[in-house]
Amino acid sequence: MNSQKLKVGIVGLGTVGGGLYDISKNNKEFEIVKVLNRSREKYKIHNIKSHQIASNLEELLNSVDIVVETVGGVEFATEVVKNALKFGKHVVTANKALIAKDGVELLKLAKNVEKFLLFGASVGGGMPVFRNLKYHSIGRISRVYGVLNATSNFVLSKVMEGMKIKDAVYLAQSEGYTESDPTDDLSGKDAARKLAIICAFITGSLPKVESIPTTSLNVDEEVVKFIEKMEMVLKPLVYMEPRNKGVELWVGPAAISRNSRIGLTEGTENCLIVEGENGINSISGVGAGKNPTAFAIMADIISIVRGEASEFNFNQVPLNILKSKFESVGNVKIFRSSR
Ligand SMILES: NC(=O)c1ccc[n+]([C@@H]2O[C@H](COP(=O)([O-])OP(=O)(O)OC[C@H]3O[C@@H](n4cnc5c(N)ncnc54)[C@H](OP(=O)(O)O)[C@@H]3O)[C@@H](O)[C@H]2O)c1
Repeated sequence: MNSQKLKVGIVGLGTVGGGLYDISKNNKEFEIVKVLNRSREKYKIHNIKSHQIASNLEELLNSVDIVVETVGGVEFATEVVKNALKFGKHVVTANKALIAKDGVELLKLAKNVEKFLLFGASVGGGMPVFRNLKYHSIGRISRVYGVLNATSNFVLSKVMEGMKIKDAVYLAQSEGYTESDPTDDLSGKDAARKLAIICAFITGSLPKVESIPTTSLNVDEEVVKFIEKMEMVLKPLVYMEPRNKGVELWVGPAAISRNSRIGLTEGTENCLIVEGENGINSISGVGAGKNPTAFAIMADIISIVRGEASEFNFNQVPLNILKSKFESVGNVKIFRSSR
């Protein structure tokens, strides 16, 4: 371990960046020396000292070894990440929109400048998705599926209890399960971004998010009754399966056995099942929120500090071809998994 603490800068002091700042205060492995945020209000909330406030991105980049990008969105985030790498800094981000869009190009840039670009927090928050996919080799992968969006999982659970979608969304908002704008959660776009990143991590090919068939949570009452009669539940599934000519990917509400691992995934819990020739690996954890996401970013920072980080590349994990079949009712796929 380095005797001198590595210097970290945070760009974007919102839910995740602010959470990271708070949990990092007393750590012994790195020091947050600069922060940059659009509104000054956040500096007050987190009691940031004046010498820690960067007046612009360049000042922050000149003061640190590792840049944490937690502004979200794509435009400014791209500027932050590209400039940080060009300035020779490691980058840690939780930004799935950015990685799903430009991950290939950004990883290439990181490789060229011999710095790390780590994004473990971008898929599944506190769930160690990539570490599991990378280190817990299960041989050739034949299928990856699961729940990666807590908002839509909460909404569908309420719909199964007889609530109308509109009321379930309102309840999710009032209980703090959604972002102020839940559009990307409910349309499936948020989950599709995560699936695109997982697909790239496994196959080496990053699909365009818009090309992934995605169904929103629009399910009618008759379908819900039918699913209940079959002792199944509705879950907002992400699904990836290698086919003879490529990879099948989709996102949308699916009926799955009530007692399966996915069927039992509730609330803010996320769960991903990885099936392969050597068995089944189930990865679960709290998928989003301030602390789980901040801890996932911290894990990436510490891996750099301790010299344990390895190039985070879009790998080639061997694939195994299955022949799954789905029945459909309305816009819901029926997925008969015995687990
Ligand atoms: N929240 C979660 O549970 C979660 C989970 C996994 C991944 N993520 C990802 O983490 C990232 C951050 O999410 P979040 O929920 O923390 O967002 P957030 O609460 O909206 O925070 C974003 C922060 O960035 C600041 N910001 C925005 N544009 C800026 C600019 N041009 N210059 C400087 N600061 C700017 C905002 O400043 P203001 O003070 O002006 O608003 C705000 O404080 C996103 O990529 C998101 O997808 C979030």
